[in-house]
Amino acid sequence: MHITQTSPEALNQAASILKSGGLVSFPTETVYGLGANALDGKAVAKIFAAKGRPSFNPLIIHVPDLSAAQKYAVFDDRALEIAHAFWPGPLTLILPKRRDGGISDLVTAGLDTIAVRVPAHKTAQELLKTCGLPVAAPSANISGTLSPTTPKHVADSLQNAVDMVLAGGACEIGLESTILDLTGDHPEILRPGAVVAEDFQSRFDFPVVYNVAINEKAPKSPGQLLKHYAPARPVRLRAVDLGGDEALLAFGSLKFMGLKGGGHVKDLPQSRVLNLSESGDLHEAAANLFAMLKALDRPEHSAIAVMDIPDTGLGIAINDRLSRAAQS
Ligand code: TXA
Ligand code: MG
Repeated sequence: MHITQTSPEALNQAASILKSGGLVSFPTETVYGLGANALDGKAVAKIFAAKGRPSFNPLIIHVPDLSAAQKYAVFDDRALEIAHAFWPGPLTLILPKRRDGGISDLVTAGLDTIAVRVPAHKTAQELLKTCGLPVAAPSANISGTLSPTTPKHVADSLQNAVDMVLAGGACEIGLESTILDLTGDHPEILRPGAVVAEDFQSRFDFPVVYNVAINEKAPKSPGQLLKHYAPARPVRLRAVDLGGDEALLAFGSLKFMGLKGGGHVKDLPQSRVLNLSESGDLHEAAANLFAMLKALDRPEHSAIAVMDIPDTGLGIAINDRLSRAAQS
């Protein structure tokens, strides 16, 4: 991995890495981000692989301005007022996701809402304008370690998992952005940051409350649980055959998948079988996971049977999400 000082050439290089599906770490005023093209599910899967995240949490997309944000999220009047007041800056908004925006379902973990941010940092702004893409970016560190605020932190944490580190000095704020959820009746702060509830109260006449998950894995109350997408149909894991009205979410070769009571899966209508990755590629499978679960989650199917997926690398995150879907 190379750390590259920001220059017009470096920005062009970073933009072309993003366009071709690679990972670029870039500075924002909060922390360094680990960015990928949010329209490209396979590129986004690399983020989870690089961070060693055991599960798929939804990611924030980064755009240069409000008009770019409006391509991917639905803004009502309240959201527009807030965006005008705080963007660019350390505030992320959770809004309804636009269906025609083309954002990978892996970015939003299958949710109908999306987290959007317009960073103020000069290098981030220049990169987002140069590449012209929405960039999905969590903090650029191994999961469970401190968020990076210098290019060296990124290099130490991620080593060769990122194609380029665009250097832009130390981050001014050093703490992740405030996350404000605007999808409910009342705006709620889901993650505290440099923008605080009083900043809204001094400008607007609506109340803003904190609803902060202390720890997403062990929430204090169910209300603090991050909402997860789950199919309406039951999910059956490690299927070795397919029942009467079940749909099949396949992985790898279908050669040995039969139907209960006789027959072969390959003779079924295509609408009943989707393959996460025919070649058994876990990046491709991660990129397809939420979109394919949703596509199979139809009333004519009694359940979604899922073939065994190896529990290594990105397979751990895929299996984590599937086992949650199987419980609900
Ligand atoms: O300062 C920041 O926000 C940094 C820099 C790089 O921009 N990014 C960052 O991203 O902290 P990340 O992926 O580490 O944090 C994303 C947070 C997670 O806590 C996730 O649960 C929440 O945003 N989130 C994303 N989409 C959401 C959604 N649709 N609903 C609720 N929470 C969401
Ligand atoms: Mg983080």
